[in-house]
Amino acid sequence: MSHKMKNFYITTAIDYANGSPHLGHAYEKVLTDVIARYKRLRGESVHFLTGLDEHGQKVQQSARKAGIEPIEFCNQQAEKFHDLCKILNISNDDYIRTTEERHKKVVRALLQKLFDKGEIYKAEYKGFYSARQEQFLLEKDKNEDGTWPEIFGDVVEITESNYFFKIGKYQDWLVEYIKGHEDFIFPRFRAKQVLEFLKEPLNDLCISRPKERLEWGIPLPFDEDYVTYVWFDALVNYISAVGYGTDDFAKNWPANFHVIGKDILVPPHSVYWPIMLKALDIEIPQSLLVHGWWLSSGEKMSKSLGNIVNPLDLVAQFGTDPFRYFLMREMNVGQDSDFSADQFLTRYTSDLGNDLGNLVSRTLNMSHRYCEGIVPQSQIDEEPEKTLRDAWAETSKSAMEMYEGMQFHTSLDKTFAFIRSINRYAEQRAPWKLAKSEDAQDKLRLQTSLAYMAEGLRLSAVILAPVMPQISEKILNLLGKNAVEKFDGELEWGNSLQGSKLSPQEILFPRMQK
Ligand code: MSP
Repeated sequence: MSHKMKNFYITTAIDYANGSPHLGHAYEKVLTDVIARYKRLRGESVHFLTGLDEHGQKVQQSARKAGIEPIEFCNQQAEKFHDLCKILNISNDDYIRTTEERHKKVVRALLQKLFDKGEIYKAEYKGFYSARQEQFLLEKDKNEDGTWPEIFGDVVEITESNYFFKIGKYQDWLVEYIKGHEDFIFPRFRAKQVLEFLKEPLNDLCISRPKERLEWGIPLPFDEDYVTYVWFDALVNYISAVGYGTDDFAKNWPANFHVIGKDILVPPHSVYWPIMLKALDIEIPQSLLVHGWWLSSGEKMSKSLGNIVNPLDLVAQFGTDPFRYFLMREMNVGQDSDFSADQFLTRYTSDLGNDLGNLVSRTLNMSHRYCEGIVPQSQIDEEPEKTLRDAWAETSKSAMEMYEGMQFHTSLDKTFAFIRSINRYAEQRAPWKLAKSEDAQDKLRLQTSLAYMAEGLRLSAVILAPVMPQISEKILNLLGKNAVEKFDGELEWGNSLQGSKLSPQEILFPRMQK
């Protein structure tokens, strides 16, 4: 298969089925969706995968508590997470659930392959185990005072036989790989953290759990008394979903981006995953895009802290695109950001209502009042016109570069500065004054100013399409255009709106109270 035909393949982490969707899940999906939509608009063929991580102890416990079978519990959860995607207008091409046959089949095949290659061995393990984290612990995981950090919950000492994957022998390779592939971890500063972790010798990875302790998992193909460790299971989704082992696989693999939160970089995505692939002779993904956390008053949102922001409430109140806009405008990809309802309302009111919404309504209003709702021909080219066109040339160039570099918050900042320039232009030209003038030149200025406002608005709608697809389409429709499918040719200042019939007044962002 020629390289050109390969899809731009992008994934999110698959969410744990035991919790309910929260702002962190919503953010990761929106971020990934914005990149996917941006790439499609650039003309690339994209494959976008998201999904649900359904095995493990916590799911088994939650199902038991609810008095239902684990699969029934997962089905209910899957519906909630599906709804989240729908409500956020996520354009994923596929949704993988780790309980699906297509996934389990690949996990088992890979385990068998590693076992046959001698990469997996059985050994007795004696040590500390955290049921909450489903993880074995070492002395070094303890607090300085000898207690266990709270995140591990109850820690018990156990002795059991388990299967281990020889990851230790890949340590040097991995260090070299990370050092030699600048793109592998984005933002780059996160790579330091991984290399720091790799300074300590890697212990072989326990990849099994005895069935008597955990039933809800994928049985090891070479020993049915055990199920697979949940991370080994979960990571494989990225290849099981795109047909590992079939001809289709090369169409997507290697992935261009795995979008993940910083909490699951070390060790799962930056250590286990590349080593699993290396041991299996599968190509390493191009890049891990590591985002930060949404905090609530400086703390990570978590069930136990009770500070979870429910994205569905915000969407219900403000609408999907304002919510998407807020997430992308406030978060510097890679950093953390504090969520605040006040800040949400401020963004909504000032950026969306006052800047964009106002531009839409005055453009429609004035065109109807002064030009029968038809976009006139632009007839003159004076200083205000030149200034606005220059502002666009600068904005479109830098905003696109920032999209490309994942700097969505600054890209949006630039775009909204441009929207304010159009509003300033409107005030400077003051069509309502020009309309009263008998001067022939003023008549031309009036027509030009309306054409310029409409064109500026069109361009703003086009460049906002990845972040606010519905608002973008709505504005383009109001201007008599269709939704933008490709950026190509749509980002240049032009006169394609000339003669276009505009819709009547429309309020895109109704005023909201606190
Ligand atoms: N199931 C694992 C991932 C397996 S991927 C092969 C998992 N699930 S999760 O539901 O806990 O988290 C899903 C994603 O949401 C992770 O990338 C995580 O970093 C992200 N977020 C969870 N809480 C978050 C915030 N408060 N803020 C931003 N994202 C965070 O981990």
